[in-house]
Amino acid sequence: MKFGYFDDPNKEYVITTPKTPLPWINYLGSSNFFSLISNTCGGYSFYKDAKLLRLTRYRYNNVPTDEGGRYYYIKDGDTVWNPGWQPVKTELDSYECRHGMGYSRYTSEKNGLEASLLAFVPVDENCEVNQLTFTNKSDKAKEFSVFSYIEFCLWNAMDDMTNFQRNLNIGEVEVVGSTIYHKTEYRERRNHFAVFSVNAPIDGFDTSRDEFLGAYRGVNDPQVVAEGKSHNSIASGWSPIASQQINVTLQPGESKSFIYVLGYCENLEDEKFVAPNVINKKPADELLAKFQTNEQVEASLAALKANWEDLLSKFTVHSDEEKLDRMVNIWNQYQCMVTFNMSRSASYYESGIGRGMGFRDSCQDLLGFVHLIPERARQRIIDIASTQFEDGSAYHQYQPLTKKGNADIGSGFNDDPLWLIAGTSAYIRETGDTSILEEMVPFDNDESKAVTLMEHLKRSFDYIVNHKGPHNLPLIGRADWNDCLNLNCFSEHPGESFQTFGPSEGPVAESVFIGGMFVMYGKEYADLCAYTGDQAEADRAMKEVAAMNDAVLDGGWDGDWFVRAYDAQSNPIGSKSCEEGQIYIEPQGFCVLAGIGVETGEAKKALDSVKEKLDTKYGIVLLQPPYTRYHVELGEISSYPPGYKENAGIFCHNNPWISCAETVIGRGNRAFEIYKKTCPAYIEDISEIHCTEPYVYSQMIAGKDAHFFGQAKNSWLTGTAAWTFVNVSQYILGVVPTLNGLSINPCIPSEMGTKFTMTRKYREGVYNITVENLNKVEKGVTKLIVDGKELTNTTVVPYEKGKAEYNVTVVMG
Ligand code: GLC
Ligand code: GLC
Repeated sequence: MKFGYFDDPNKEYVITTPKTPLPWINYLGSSNFFSLISNTCGGYSFYKDAKLLRLTRYRYNNVPTDEGGRYYYIKDGDTVWNPGWQPVKTELDSYECRHGMGYSRYTSEKNGLEASLLAFVPVDENCEVNQLTFTNKSDKAKEFSVFSYIEFCLWNAMDDMTNFQRNLNIGEVEVVGSTIYHKTEYRERRNHFAVFSVNAPIDGFDTSRDEFLGAYRGVNDPQVVAEGKSHNSIASGWSPIASQQINVTLQPGESKSFIYVLGYCENLEDEKFVAPNVINKKPADELLAKFQTNEQVEASLAALKANWEDLLSKFTVHSDEEKLDRMVNIWNQYQCMVTFNMSRSASYYESGIGRGMGFRDSCQDLLGFVHLIPERARQRIIDIASTQFEDGSAYHQYQPLTKKGNADIGSGFNDDPLWLIAGTSAYIRETGDTSILEEMVPFDNDESKAVTLMEHLKRSFDYIVNHKGPHNLPLIGRADWNDCLNLNCFSEHPGESFQTFGPSEGPVAESVFIGGMFVMYGKEYADLCAYTGDQAEADRAMKEVAAMNDAVLDGGWDGDWFVRAYDAQSNPIGSKSCEEGQIYIEPQGFCVLAGIGVETGEAKKALDSVKEKLDTKYGIVLLQPPYTRYHVELGEISSYPPGYKENAGIFCHNNPWISCAETVIGRGNRAFEIYKKTCPAYIEDISEIHCTEPYVYSQMIAGKDAHFFGQAKNSWLTGTAAWTFVNVSQYILGVVPTLNGLSINPCIPSEMGTKFTMTRKYREGVYNITVENLNKVEKGVTKLIVDGKELTNTTVVPYEKGKAEYNVTVVMG
């Protein structure tokens, strides 16, 4: 069952009922000011940091769900309704929500009155603009009132929901004309305030939540709206809000628009006040002046759209597969940008007060956005590398505002160092900018300990070389990619963090997965060394890679698939000999991706075992059989009920590894089958089962052992976005940036027909690519024609400095 449809020409998903199985959200904002907005106008806004500088309140874990947002109450006679249906939930005569690239638009009608709300965060402005347009579609004049409503958060979102003994006393506002200023804590150490304004004279206002709602009433039924008259309340302590009343008269056919702006403003320390405790409003005046007319709003929206057109023009595909094109050209890349902006901080599942930036998460996210915003990727790499330690290990997380490593979680996640190589290599292959390797980058943010980025990569590489266990496989530390395989933890008491309990190092527990990663990214490290002229280091690296390759095939092979790990007693995990958890997905994907066992047959066997043991109709589960009891020697993985999260859920992030791996052995049909199973556009029809948004990936879909098999959770902020994009663009469509040029070597299913085209902007050039596949093979390039010239025995279009356009034909056969 569907709850909407894709509108590809407009790059929108159109939701046709407010009653989606879960709130279906969108993100507004691209640099500093961000908002989350659901299909019923729920969500919140923040400036830079969702924990420390939150502008509006949102109640996670609330019932009814998703209450709190930018709400407009329309009181038309005795009927009160909202353009987004919530929170009053009056049945609407029509409803539509269009989530587009950085904006959302709601159009609803009730009793002959149409309300259309456009919400977006303009490029490079610190505000959310809401343009609310009313049209009288009836044949009689209409008189009605509109009451706006937002609830301010007292900036620190964590403190705001816990520290009531203080917070109920400190709320302060100012009201001037149609503008409400929120200035809690501005009298002391803050130099910022928020504004909520409308570009028209108002007929009343409220700034006290309890006055507006009335005692024991909710946002679904505010007292002021019921009475039809604002109280002109001034908040003092308690909970400040912003609400304006405007009385509107519309003749039949007439339209009127109002522009509301929620903004974040700062003043210099000595320019904060114009009179005792009166805000200097200059920054607010300047901001609001930019959004006074519909023309200004239209121009600003056009600039936002142009920005997205430009970003999304960097990689496009045109094929017979409409759903594939839609994901590649629009939604998958859009989600990658959202993970760049949000990391894992603010979604409807991540409360914005938890984790900072993950070392491994951020390096992987980069794989999905490096072609879109290479300059920002460059800075991100340097920020991440600055949190590395001298021995090559790294802080597992860092704070986005300070960019400092997070001491609470510390280090010891032994896959982390290798992800830095992955991210840096991707950046250099994309841009050719080897100068980044010469940048001086500190360890642990200590500038006195700065070395070149190349040296950081060497330390990453050597960290693995220097931390091997009894099978010559990498030691796992606290965990590798799978945060829940905690082999040195042995936690027996509730509340202990599996991530940080126990020693960070164990001398025995090993990870085959990191072994696969080492082979994969060790080669990329060696390539970088050779490319920058250090052949001796490249040779040394390749020797280590070969040794690891052997160790994986030796201690890491179980007969029909790769073993997952060895525990602290050196017992295998993910082996036939195990009682539960006999086969895991991760090493099958990563080892094959790295090329291990491709020539000797283990790769194919491992992937066949995945199909036989782990595949389901909704995707590939993480392991089988699931853990049915708590295994103290394994940690968090066995804490989840069977079928959920890492315990045999369909963990979407690693499904593309298997799909990529299938392309490595040339099975395009199977690779695509796997791609489609978790791909949002392909499962739109089962939205009632899947539940999360049909335009973005979720972290997890409940596995076959779970009660709600097929139900997804944790949409938007997941490494799945980057990896599915890498999978589809580099492995299936086969367009891979290399150090020396663009390689084009598709591995495709029969659905792709005999011809498709792509455009790829790469370094200074635009590549217009046509792939011909008259023989309908799954893989194999027989001819590469570049600007009319035929190249043989290669899939790489050599890079030519400064060349602006390449016309490329790839003949498969
Ligand atoms: C979460 C984490 C990621 C980890 C994965 C598997 O998505 O953000 O770092 O690799 O879970 O445990
Ligand atoms: C839990 C989750 C895992 C996530 C981790 C982040 O272990 O199961 O997915 O990566 O928390 O700390």
